[in-house]
Amino acid sequence: MKVKTVVTGGAGFIGSHLVEKLVSDGYEVTVLDNFSSGFLGNLSRVRDRVGLVVGDIKDLKTCLNVFKEAEIVYHFAANPEVRVSSIEPKVHFEENVYGTFNVAEASRISETVKTVVFASSSTVYGDASVIPTHEECGLKPISIYGASKAAAELILHSYSTLYGLRVVVVRYANIVGPRARHGVIRDFLVKLSRDSSILEVLGDGRQRKSYLYIDDAIEATLLAATKAEASYSVFNVGNEDWVEVSEIAKIISEVLGIKPRIVYSGGTRDGRGWPGDVKFMLLSIDKIKSLGWRPRYTSAEAVKLAARAVARELGLLRE
Ligand SMILES: NC(=O)c1ccc[n+]([C@@H]2O[C@H](COP(=O)([O-])OP(=O)(O)OC[C@H]3O[C@@H](n4cnc5c(N)ncnc54)[C@H](O)[C@@H]3O)[C@@H](O)[C@H]2O)c1
Repeated sequence: MKVKTVVTGGAGFIGSHLVEKLVSDGYEVTVLDNFSSGFLGNLSRVRDRVGLVVGDIKDLKTCLNVFKEAEIVYHFAANPEVRVSSIEPKVHFEENVYGTFNVAEASRISETVKTVVFASSSTVYGDASVIPTHEECGLKPISIYGASKAAAELILHSYSTLYGLRVVVVRYANIVGPRARHGVIRDFLVKLSRDSSILEVLGDGRQRKSYLYIDDAIEATLLAATKAEASYSVFNVGNEDWVEVSEIAKIISEVLGIKPRIVYSGGTRDGRGWPGDVKFMLLSIDKIKSLGWRPRYTSAEAVKLAARAVARELGLLRE
């Protein structure tokens, strides 16, 4: 019999790639998504092979109905916009904290849900004092988004301890690839689609972060989900290296075959892109590597592949 899984946020960027892989691995999958940032088109390759519930994780009854008989819940629904979080903090509390509480509560009540896999973020570390940052480093988020992810992790930790729920937390670096609707790559491509002669980079361009291609991220996620032995485990999922934002601007210009004038503006006084932006992010990935995983692409390769894919989606590239 097929193992029943639920993917919250399964119509989003990462969620839809995860759903495709789960389906091809023989799992029965139900997607729970409110389509606030997800798209039905993201599921076009698997639409006839997955259950789809259009609903909101902020509604406990909906979660209870969808989780009935499920064994594994991949909790990926969230508002993922770091920038929005400093403008409207309440949104992130409701979507990411209260939403996760409902996911935990519905898992507890369901009696069939054994495992929750949670999409957390490198932003929980804030401006880390140790780089590469390992999983035992302190959580000192500097954005409301990061705080909401840290709070969600702690809620799940208490459910794991109190009710025996198996919890696997994956703290993602920047995940890039086709279908991504937010983040620096799409942002630059959209700007260049309006005016290819100039590219405005927020901050001083010296922000340096780690980028992971979506296929690598999904592989690592499923490995952690199946192999984690502890009842509560946390894995960083990122790349071995990082890349500067100014380098990303160059890669994207090359992908489009253009030479825009690059201007650095906006941002904060200390060169961040926006308040709450972590300027330097590189995760230690030794723990996930010990399970037998390696990223196939470097950060720069991941950015290039993703830029090509998103440029095609935006109609900026043909091949
Ligand atoms: N993309 C990244 O680089 C990255 C990095 C770290 C963590 N994450 C986390 O990974 C997860 C997926 O991110 P993504 O980049 O695919 O974003 P996304 O916006 O493409 O996907 C989020 C999905 O959740 C759905 N959703 C949002 N609120 C919901 C609600 N209340 N009820 C039901 N569905 C809801 C959206 O419609 C969307 O389909 C998120 O939890 C995000 O915080 C992403």
